[in-house]
Amino acid sequence: MKDTLIDIFIMDKHYRVPASLTIMRAFEYAGYKMIRGAGCRGGFCGACATVYRMTGDNKLYVALACQSVAQDGMRLAQIPSFPANKTRYDLAALDANGARLLELYPELGLCKGCNTCTKACPQDLQVMEYVGAALRGEVARAADLSFDCIACGLCTARCPGELAPYNIALLARRLYGAYLAPRSPHLAKRVAEIRAGKWDATVRELKALPVDELKKRYNAREIEK
Ligand code: FES
Repeated sequence: MKDTLIDIFIMDKHYRVPASLTIMRAFEYAGYKMIRGAGCRGGFCGACATVYRMTGDNKLYVALACQSVAQDGMRLAQIPSFPANKTRYDLAALDANGARLLELYPELGLCKGCNTCTKACPQDLQVMEYVGAALRGEVARAADLSFDCIACGLCTARCPGELAPYNIALLARRLYGAYLAPRSPHLAKRVAEIRAGKWDATVRELKALPVDELKKRYNAREIEK
């Protein structure tokens, strides 16, 4: 059956595209080559942050272009990459003290509590909540609330206080992972084995396999219960 066509506007230019396409596929159908602003195409990398309005509606909406289906009347633009504040730090020289978050990101104190970041998040995360937790030095809570962040940067693009919530959350998750998360004895054992070269021959063998054989082995692998 033939797909119905819908009207969309990309950077104000009119295109007719099949109704079933994601925004990313609609861009491509319209002739745009996604060299930037596309990565995993599966909703994980955050590269495809997109803003749009609907014709006749003054609200600004956000979406991940690879995850959202294009709608009739969409007026679309992708957000070009812009550098957000990312403090440089040596994780090994830090500690679990939650005050490190405010020390390394003093702009946390500029949060106006407007909740625009939360509204901008295509993952529906409680961004302002985790910013608040970070401000209070609650590392574990900030890490937990931001766990599904894919760093698309839409919160940063919209924040009137010019915070980069996703980078602050990344520090919280790193601190949590380095200093607060319970240690896994299995992981420590496996890392020691890797360091001792126990798996070198296996990795070499896997790397030499044809893709089909690799897929076969992957599908037949033993899954830990
Ligand atoms: S391309 Fe990776 S999230 Fe959309």
